[in-house]
Amino acid sequence: MQRGFSSQLNSSSLRPGELQLSVEHLQLNFGGVTALLGVDLQIRQGEIFAIIGPNGAGKTSLLNCISGLYHPQRGRILFYHNGEHDLTHLRPHQIARLGVARTFQNIELFRHMTVLDNLLAGAHIHMKSNLLASLIYWGMAQREQIQFRRFIEDIIELLEIQAIRNKVVATLPYGLQKRVELGRALALRPAILLLDEPMAGMNTEEKEDMARFILDVNEEYGVTIVLIEHDMGVVMDISDRVAVLNFGQKIAEGTPDEVRNNPLVIEAYLGEEHAALLSRPFSKS
Ligand SMILES: Nc1ncnc2c1ncn2[C@@H]1O[C@H](COP(=O)(O)OP(=O)(O)OP(=O)(O)O)[C@@H](O)[C@H]1O
Ligand SMILES: [Mg+2]
Repeated sequence: MQRGFSSQLNSSSLRPGELQLSVEHLQLNFGGVTALLGVDLQIRQGEIFAIIGPNGAGKTSLLNCISGLYHPQRGRILFYHNGEHDLTHLRPHQIARLGVARTFQNIELFRHMTVLDNLLAGAHIHMKSNLLASLIYWGMAQREQIQFRRFIEDIIELLEIQAIRNKVVATLPYGLQKRVELGRALALRPAILLLDEPMAGMNTEEKEDMARFILDVNEEYGVTIVLIEHDMGVVMDISDRVAVLNFGQKIAEGTPDEVRNNPLVIEAYLGEEHAALLSRPFSKS
């Protein structure tokens, strides 16, 4: 179903399949702890790229490097969007402004603001001034204001959150807060969307909803998705490619099929429960 965004949701300047994000030989240490060691990744426009691995494998650290929260000791991160950008030493807001949007393992929203205000705040990263966002909003030409509000309304409709638009975030159940956080990331008009465990703590129905929204954003609007997720069923179902981290190193990469049959991966997921999950059947749609 094409809902027809009146404005572009996907801000990437690339064509599907072109190299969008290149992570090269990344190394990140915290004192004596090596969180990432020689990690290479190449992510292409339009794909759903999953990053999996046991607890403490370095998945969140990798996302934090990409979004500028952590700065690696070695390696570099290149992002392609109207030319090449080296993200390695940029600050988070500079990276966000290039269209790298993300959600967090622990929800990061303005908890005492409404859903609508959170979405508006997500969009304002593109505004050039540090003045109050509302001032900028009122400074826009009327036509721009209308287009901007329509864009936010499109996101609300896409995520089916009309009924809670004026609710304060802190009063919402966890699953809905996760959905609002996805909306806040979409309001940035992403070129690439980094999702850190978007289904963690959800029940089966909420997970299915979230998987559907992620697929919608990817298939209908072409936004590249980088997905960290522990639920192997979801990962195997919706990902085009999967990379596996273990103790900070990439130990496998390939299609879901290739990865789940890889002996190194099965070994990393010690315990038969995980191995059994990896062997579950899957399909993308
Ligand atoms: N800010 C930090 N300071 C110190 N150590 C850190 C920091 N962030 C991460 N680490 C360490 O880096 C390693 C990788 O952590 P990370 O959070 O990236 O793992 P993860 O794969 O996201 O795990 P999980 O599945 O539990 O979320 C761990 O040993 C962790 O303790
Ligand atoms: Mg993590």
